[in-house]
Amino acid sequence: MRWGVVGHGRIVPKFLDAARGVGHEVVAVVGRDPSRVAAFATGHGISQTGIDPSGLVGEVDAVYVATPHSGHRDAALALLPAGVPVLCEKPMAVNATQVRQMLDAARGSGAFLMEAMWTRHLPVLRRLREWIDQGRLGEIRTVEAAFGFDAPYQPTNRLWSPELAGGSLLDLGIYPLTLAELVFDSTPVSFEAEAELSASGVDTCLSLKAEFTGGGSADLRSALNADLSPTARVVGSAGVVEIPEFWRAERMVFDPVGGGRTEEVLEPHGINGFEYQILEAARCLEAGRSESAVVPWTWSLAMAELTDEIRARIGVVYPSDGELQ
Ligand SMILES: NC(=O)c1ccc[n+]([C@@H]2O[C@H](COP(=O)([O-])OP(=O)(O)OC[C@H]3O[C@@H](n4cnc5c(N)ncnc54)[C@H](OP(=O)(O)O)[C@@H]3O)[C@@H](O)[C@H]2O)c1
Repeated sequence: MRWGVVGHGRIVPKFLDAARGVGHEVVAVVGRDPSRVAAFATGHGISQTGIDPSGLVGEVDAVYVATPHSGHRDAALALLPAGVPVLCEKPMAVNATQVRQMLDAARGSGAFLMEAMWTRHLPVLRRLREWIDQGRLGEIRTVEAAFGFDAPYQPTNRLWSPELAGGSLLDLGIYPLTLAELVFDSTPVSFEAEAELSASGVDTCLSLKAEFTGGGSADLRSALNADLSPTARVVGSAGVVEIPEFWRAERMVFDPVGGGRTEEVLEPHGINGFEYQILEAARCLEAGRSESAVVPWTWSLAMAELTDEIRARIGVVYPSDGELQ
């Protein structure tokens, strides 16, 4: 498969390693500034460069969109109507309105579109889902998951900028939400959210207590100002699963209630963990599917609706939300 990439920031080298590691090519990169994009292309062995995503139409088999969140929708809309398959970094877009526009475009042309929520593809978490389906954990009581690191406050950096749809929820909190959704197989029926906002107006940290159908709950946190414990716990009536660094999980440990035998699952990444979503995109294209069952469109839309509601409760508004009025 021949990929194009939109954006050339921190995450893109990880994508390049994984795509090339599974035998795909990355042949084109697009950025806003010709000299910056040329420097990246030279440094990473990419032959074609451009400053307009639509220049990728007809040039590649699929495009990985890795701009700041505020740029996902426009990059995707430059490609999807022309039938170009898109793997779009998380979150799919800034809000549910933008996600719907992207889904409509993909539906209209039949192009493949998947949010790059790589965590959902990881073998460890797929195994966790199997265990839950088999009833090994019993009734799920609670999920505890957090993702946070201490980032220097720089108002123009994408993490802190409302213009770029920054904040802990869309950058990091989406991973604990993903784990809770995976475990309960639904978004919460109700939640309480508490957040601290930065001077720039994005959420520096967020704490969410959520209730799910059937009585289970989740305690989820994200932070841009603190290193939070990276080990998630899924507590069931029949046992507890601990997942170190759950968003990039390679391992989990099951401890049955009542002192039975502990079981460990080890699934080291073949490359860096991005390969699973890249291979899934390739399988979908091969099969002529426009959507993946691992990260379906309904999932991305439900997640955007949920994060919109959380932001409304904690008072985080982005300039692009103005399009809603
Ligand atoms: N899956 C993961 O593990 C993971 C990890 C980190 C990030 N991400 C996601 O990947 C995406 C990119 O994150 P990143 O950390 O790579 O971002 P980054 O380092 O800030 O890079 C952003 C890239 O987008 C370009 N860009 C386009 N429009 C821009 C704008 N208006 N302002 C600033 N830059 C702009 C920048 O290049 P120019 O300035 O030259 O245009 C740069 O190449 C985000 O969606 C993020 O959530 C995913």
